Amino acid sequence: MSASERPPAHPRTSSPPRPSPPDLPVPAPAWWQRPGLEVRGDRLALNGHDLGALLRGHGAPLFVYDLARPAENVRALQAALRRAGLPYVTRFALKSCPDPRILAVLRGLGEPGTPDGVGIDACSPGEVLHALANGWPAEAISHTGTNVSERDLDVLLAHPIRLNLDGVSQVERVGRRAPGRAIGLRVNPGAGAGYTADLAYAGERPTKFGVTPDRLDDAIAAARRHGLAVDTLHFHAGSGWLGDQLGEFEAALARATAALERLLDAGFVIREVNVGGGLGRVARDGEVPVDLDAYAATVARHLAPYGVTAAFEPGDFVMKDSAVLLAEVVTVERRGGVTFVGLDVGWNVNCAYFVYGYAQEVLPLRAPMRDRTQLVTVAGHINEAGDVFAEDYPMPDVAEGEGVAILNAGGYLQAMSMTHCLRPTGAAVYLERPAR
Ligand SMILES: Cc1ncc(COP(=O)(O)O)c(C=O)c1O
Repeated sequence: MSASERPPAHPRTSSPPRPSPPDLPVPAPAWWQRPGLEVRGDRLALNGHDLGALLRGHGAPLFVYDLARPAENVRALQAALRRAGLPYVTRFALKSCPDPRILAVLRGLGEPGTPDGVGIDACSPGEVLHALANGWPAEAISHTGTNVSERDLDVLLAHPIRLNLDGVSQVERVGRRAPGRAIGLRVNPGAGAGYTADLAYAGERPTKFGVTPDRLDDAIAAARRHGLAVDTLHFHAGSGWLGDQLGEFEAALARATAALERLLDAGFVIREVNVGGGLGRVARDGEVPVDLDAYAATVARHLAPYGVTAAFEPGDFVMKDSAVLLAEVVTVERRGGVTFVGLDVGWNVNCAYFVYGYAQEVLPLRAPMRDRTQLVTVAGHINEAGDVFAEDYPMPDVAEGEGVAILNAGGYLQAMSMTHCLRPTGAAVYLERPAR
């Protein structure tokens, strides 16, 4: 393919249109209210705790986790899968939150491999060892890695985990080192879905993940040469996709099913099709939540004819709305016609918008249901212009010294925190849900 024929570097998927700035004032958003996260006496509270008091006590950055929410989210997904009637396993994408307290909650849901249990989706040797140390048996851990080294394989092949290989090179190297082993093949369906175009992991332009259709015969030949038993097909369409993108996920699923046919034709006995993670969470008014029953029914419709177990490996869907990040407004200032609301946290602890383009809601801890009277840019305290959390964002008149909560902060953010600019990574508190 010549450079002129090459598709653009960032092909747009038909991601949902983001709402344009509203006419002011607008009422405060209310979509986020749920048991556990609510307004109590005009204060924002998580599991009955006044978040303002927590911020005063601990300082920023402070992640506040709801220990009940990950389990609620897993149970909602499992209930939909049960209703769809297909055999399934759920595995938690460990990278979204490796904290042992959260892992204990998820491990406690049931024996992995049973309908109530949760296994682990790992993407590195470190995650495999972490899952083992936190109580998962090797058989409940599924590793799907990219650019896996020989040193990685030293660890991975020492444990009887499920191993999904994402390229012909990996198949060759695992085959040489562990002939006869059972493996999964991660395929790149050439279609994807994500909250933004960059969050679709497959599309017109090749991405780094998975065996593309033009290399599938090579992967099959390598597996045969080494006597590898391909028993799993894996794909991951992308991350953060919402209810109005189910069709995009389904297109990826349909293409993965074509790869499944080719593996079956090659004589492999496929027991599991792993449809990855990627289910997103609503972050703003107007976004469409994923309809779990429609999702489960879609997977069932495509996979039921093959008699396979469907595997799911959600991360953000389980964790994203399970924590908020607290900060103080330290600056409110007009610059060139834009009001900047500056916080004492930075993208080193909240890279959601800067790195991924994820929207987040920013709520004042006092009187969070005040009307939104101004459009602002909410920015952090890292010395980079891109250190921004929201733009053209409707907020009430907030004062310097006020506390705010950044919602949807439970997935990835704390795990990815760093000390850039020698800013602290922050503390976390974990709150049980009081009985009602
Ligand atoms: C292979 C694989 N599985 C699961 C996940 C979890 O994704 P999410 O947190 O969007 O559900 C990812 C995320 O990148 C992934 O690459």
